[in-house]
Amino acid sequence: PPATKAKLNALEALRGKRVRVFGWVHRLRVQKDIIFVVLRDGKGFLQCVLSGVVAQTYAALTLTLESSIELTGTLTALPEGKTAPGISGKPEPNGHELIVDWWKCIGAAPGGEEAFTNRLNEKSDPSILSDLRHLVLRGETSSSVIKLRSQLLAAFRDTLTGVNHGCMEVTPPCLVQTQVEGGSTLFELTYYGQKAFLTQSSQLYLETCLSSLGDVFCVQESFRAENSHTRRHLSEYTHLEAELAFITFDDLMTHIEAVICETVDRILANPLSRSLLYHLNPTFTPPTRPFLRLSYVSAISWLNEHNILHPLEDPLTGSPILDPETGKVKMVKHKVGDDIAEAAERQMTDIIGRPVFLFGFPKELKAFYMKRMEEVGEGGEVFTESCDLLMPGVGEIVGGSMRISDSEELLAAYKREGIDPGPYYWFTDQRKYGTCEHGGYGLGVERFLAWLANRYTVRECCLYPRWPGRATP
Ligand code: 4AD
Ligand code: MG
Repeated sequence: PPATKAKLNALEALRGKRVRVFGWVHRLRVQKDIIFVVLRDGKGFLQCVLSGVVAQTYAALTLTLESSIELTGTLTALPEGKTAPGISGKPEPNGHELIVDWWKCIGAAPGGEEAFTNRLNEKSDPSILSDLRHLVLRGETSSSVIKLRSQLLAAFRDTLTGVNHGCMEVTPPCLVQTQVEGGSTLFELTYYGQKAFLTQSSQLYLETCLSSLGDVFCVQESFRAENSHTRRHLSEYTHLEAELAFITFDDLMTHIEAVICETVDRILANPLSRSLLYHLNPTFTPPTRPFLRLSYVSAISWLNEHNILHPLEDPLTGSPILDPETGKVKMVKHKVGDDIAEAAERQMTDIIGRPVFLFGFPKELKAFYMKRMEEVGEGGEVFTESCDLLMPGVGEIVGGSMRISDSEELLAAYKREGIDPGPYYWFTDQRKYGTCEHGGYGLGVERFLAWLANRYTVRECCLYPRWPGRATP
């Protein structure tokens, strides 16, 4: 009978039929007169059984892992109690297998010294794994992370464009001539004889869209020249940013919370993403609303109460001061005005154990465009309508704020920060021609995924990660 060509995630309806499938040899077990192949096509996995004459050809005997092959056979339901690799490669009951009656090798992978498992195996060291990322991606875990990422981006888009939020997606440029988050982390390049940068954030462009498109969002690469070799820093990352008009600071935090919870709900409601998620993170529990909201000032007290210390810094240079006795950085209590370092932030989030909004950061710690809070601190400190969303295991995954809406105030902010207002004329115009109270946020997609899928580092959460010194493959 004729065979139906099918992808491995679409076989359910073809049980009992003859099918034709294509893919790569993911696992291989050769017995005396029978060969078991787990076929992988990127969409799913299928156990295939070659026996009798089909298992005895020369090609069958020399078959290698990672060869690409074509197979035809009958798709047979597994006997009860037997398992076969499911959508994420993990064994699942109630599956099916292919009883092969014809097959062909399309691209044989080498055996011997150059065999796949000699280039890459459990003992390969991290720098080899980075160089061979293109091969690592064939693995069940790495490919599951990337598949979940794809589902996650689709879920975010559905949430943001859905009836509850009604945001419109736009695509701002990556080549820009303005900074957003400080000059020190800009990648600079020469652009037809002029100075330009790779974008750090699309925020300023999103702000300009409010008056033409209403609430907007984008999913765009952002670039940060930070010499940070940490679990959560990349030089290039995918930045999901949104900007909302005619809102209050409270509306902004409620919106962020809703977008995150609704997106997680979508992931759990879809059988594919649900299965990928629990394969990667078996103990995942969705967050509950409302998230804890902790002001920056209360966070400083909280850290001191929990004896989480701050590195003592030289007031002039900002560099850490060493304790002459121990030779280690001297640690002291936090005080209002201190930046909460990554380590302290992570410890705090892990102890709290659920998502927490830190809000109201001092003006000096935050970007030039942020709106100031009306109330000032006990020592006259000025705080901003800013918030960071922290997740257990990762720390900051979202940074957001209300924006200065008054053009005079914005001009003063440029001046204070030593920013030449010239290149920002278009951003300033947004305040000049019909300003409005507005705010927005940026979410690091890799950081969100690291939290969702419980990955150790953001480097596992994108296709080809870039960090200081690495732009290959
Ligand atoms: O806190 P950030 O710097 O905020 C902004 O860029 C705002 N302009 C966003 C906005 O309001 N539209 O960055 C936002 C988020 C962070 O919370 C973090 O999740 C992620 O971007 N992020 C990084 N992710 C990976 N590697 C890096 N080097 C990152 N820097 C920021
Ligand atoms: Mg931030």
